[in-house]
Amino acid sequence: MADQNPLHPRAFVIGDPISHSRSPLIHRHWLETAGIKGSYDPVHIRESDLKRFVAALKDGTSSYAGGNVTLPHKQAIADLVDNIDETAKQIGAVNTVWLEAGRLCATNTDSHGFSANLDELEPGWDRGKTAVVFGAGGASRAILHALKARGFTSIRIVNRTLARAQELSDRFGGGVSAHSIDELDDVSSGANLFVNTTSLGMGGTPVPDIDFSRLATGALVTDIVYVPLVTPIMAMAASQGLATVDGLGMLLHQAAPGFEKWFGRTPAVTKSLRDLVI
Ligand code: ATR
Repeated sequence: MADQNPLHPRAFVIGDPISHSRSPLIHRHWLETAGIKGSYDPVHIRESDLKRFVAALKDGTSSYAGGNVTLPHKQAIADLVDNIDETAKQIGAVNTVWLEAGRLCATNTDSHGFSANLDELEPGWDRGKTAVVFGAGGASRAILHALKARGFTSIRIVNRTLARAQELSDRFGGGVSAHSIDELDDVSSGANLFVNTTSLGMGGTPVPDIDFSRLATGALVTDIVYVPLVTPIMAMAASQGLATVDGLGMLLHQAAPGFEKWFGRTPAVTKSLRDLVI
């Protein structure tokens, strides 16, 4: 655990805006269930204030053990920390920082959150090694990292803007290819996993029809959107007889490594936490 007041450990989530963040709900629930008299504070930090905030964190004047980092600071903070791990480097974004022996360390836990959610709800999800990843934004990068780490050998990125998919296939290398949306059906052929990383279907907005019939037998469809819990893409997949996993657990599991770093305890992703956050 980081150097700070052991009687009242403190962590933060910084962003602009910050009021929408669900992270306080998650970490305060874990603090309460673990009986830790700590705090987890949403802190509104503008881009122009980031340097000052990080300086106060490093010199201990703010007495935080660390915290979460959200938009628009996920890239900018990478240049301000003392140590950034390979995961955050490959994803190109930081979402968790902590102090360790006076040094500010950084990682990205979204990749862990994605895999841990599927490990919990659909063990063996990574047995087949072929995936379709729909979307090429920030969330897509974390999922590509997770799939590469689990040994996926064929990952087909499909995106409305082909150039963004190409950028990611260059970044993630061997076995990762880039495709436009009109290739979606073709590249789905024989895939074991379909991941929606786009915002399509968020809030229940209608999505264009997707034909999942070309996926491999027993393929799994998952979504990073979790509002609604059963997204239009998941409903479409279920109506075509496929297994589905919702994205809420990714949000909950990505929070766990930070809690461990700041508060020194391993938290559990329970049904009551799911009910609280949704
Ligand atoms: P995030 O960091 O959450 O991934 P993002 O970087 O804005 O957010 O990426 C959003 C993704 O959703 C992109 O892949 C985007 O496609 P483009 O790269 O072409 O913009 C995709 N997306 C958003 N709205 C879409 C829509 N209506 N149809 C298809 N793809 C869409």
